[in-house]
Amino acid sequence: MRKKLVAGNWKMHGSLAENAVLLEALKPALAGIEAVVCVPFPYLAQVQAVLGGSSIAWGAQNLSEQTKGAFTGEVSASMLVDFGCRYVIVGHSERRSLYGESDELVASKYVVAQAAGLTPILCVGESLDERESGVTEAVVARQLDAVIKVAGVESLAQAVVAYEPVWAIGTGKTASPEQAQAVHAFIRGKIATLNSKVADQLVIQYGGSVKAANAAELMAQPDIDGGLIGGASLVADEFVAICRAAAK
Ligand code: PGA
Repeated sequence: MRKKLVAGNWKMHGSLAENAVLLEALKPALAGIEAVVCVPFPYLAQVQAVLGGSSIAWGAQNLSEQTKGAFTGEVSASMLVDFGCRYVIVGHSERRSLYGESDELVASKYVVAQAAGLTPILCVGESLDERESGVTEAVVARQLDAVIKVAGVESLAQAVVAYEPVWAIGTGKTASPEQAQAVHAFIRGKIATLNSKVADQLVIQYGGSVKAANAAELMAQPDIDGGLIGGASLVADEFVAICRAAAK
């Protein structure tokens, strides 16, 4: 059986004081449940100090495709490892659309993350225009192929894929369980044509306006193995309820 995994994506939210309150609420409530929080870089030391020894792992939301050097403002994979990160989000749609990250750049980030021992959470997903023009599967396939081309399909054994339809992110519009399941099944099927064992084991998260109220029906879909949670990951009760729904 595949495990289910829920990860929070805090985006550019939080403060030392707010994080302390949130983390202290999550720790006991999620005792024994594997979960992840992906926090802004400056708070990695804080989550490391608070969450060390708990069942909650942590990670970053981005990293440099370079390993070291004169790259002002960038953060390398080994720096994330220094702060105990196990995960890093790569290719989030906000990085792709607001910061112009190409499929190739995302693939480079995925490669350096894995080389440092991090598990990349690779985000894929179509925009509203793309869905309406019927190219959802083509877009998701292109995004996956960019990574498979440079890293190989076997690399997905040490990765998580997050299907996040762009039109569902932060909009309150969740993909229906059936819509999400259809794309998740497509992703798994596509990978299965290359390596069925990797496909069977691959954790494919759904992301896009997941909340406590809709988590159970999404998590009940056969190919949905957890979630990547934005807004609701900032509210302890919501995030805990989503993690518990996935763990059921
Ligand atoms: P949301 O964000 O849950 O706020 O829609 C999800 C994401 O962007 O990862």
